[in-house]
Amino acid sequence: MNTPSRPQTAFAPAWLSDAGGLRYHLRALRHRNGAWRPFRAQVARWLEAWAPPGRELALVGPSAGHTLPPAWFARFDRVTVFEPDPFARRWLARRLSASRLHFSSEDVLGGAHPLETLNALPDDCAILFCNVLGQVAPEAAERWHAPLRTRLGERDWASFHDVVSTDRPPRADAPDHACAEGSLEAILARFWSGGELPLVDHDTFQLDGSGSADYTLWHLRPGRFHLVEWVTHRSPSQKSGATA
Ligand SMILES: C[S@@+](CC[C@H](N)C(=O)[O-])C[C@H]1O[C@@H](n2cnc3c(N)ncnc32)[C@H](O)[C@@H]1O
Repeated sequence: MNTPSRPQTAFAPAWLSDAGGLRYHLRALRHRNGAWRPFRAQVARWLEAWAPPGRELALVGPSAGHTLPPAWFARFDRVTVFEPDPFARRWLARRLSASRLHFSSEDVLGGAHPLETLNALPDDCAILFCNVLGQVAPEAAERWHAPLRTRLGERDWASFHDVVSTDRPPRADAPDHACAEGSLEAILARFWSGGELPLVDHDTFQLDGSGSADYTLWHLRPGRFHLVEWVTHRSPSQKSGATA
């Protein structure tokens, strides 16, 4: 296990926030078995295909796990959770097996050296960012790309995150998901018809560097659509093990 070299930052409890909180839970109750169903199914497929090799997992920003498949977590002996919303933590503990969950009050996304203290986790502990990196910006950098590369390059991690969001409904023939590389414009064209697309850019496109990633739509609420990216990063030891 590595030792964190920076002081830890603790969460302020977040009952209401732009990235989650009570408003998000109410929305989840309303839509998780309706408009969110295709997105939840896609997240379940992504996780099933990821299969990190270790028996430990860290979850960053899982909320109450409204979009996560509970059964998938049974394979882990220990799950460390970084989530500032106290209500979400209780709900998550009921939804997943509470005995495996360990809640940390450390803000691993905050401070001048975000992500760095995640390296205090055991080396084989994989990290899953649960739709949080498109919601929270790093204090010390404009985007998450560089902190992920420099601080978590040696670890197994995966993330699903908002890339863009818009009020414009997607095209009727939009795919369930698209594994794609290339420009953001080319990927947007798979999901939305041509013409100018008014959007919020969440600054997370190709979060693990350029190359191929998987994309799907999340119909968050009536009239609001998110394009969500899935990327996985393998530690160098895993990569060399796979090719040996
Ligand atoms: C969009 S929600 C995640 C949704 C979740 N994946 C689900 O299945 O419902 C984003 C979450 O990130 C959490 N969050 C915000 N700031 C955070 C931080 N600094 N560290 C960890 N989680 C954070 C919020 O409390 C919120 O629960």
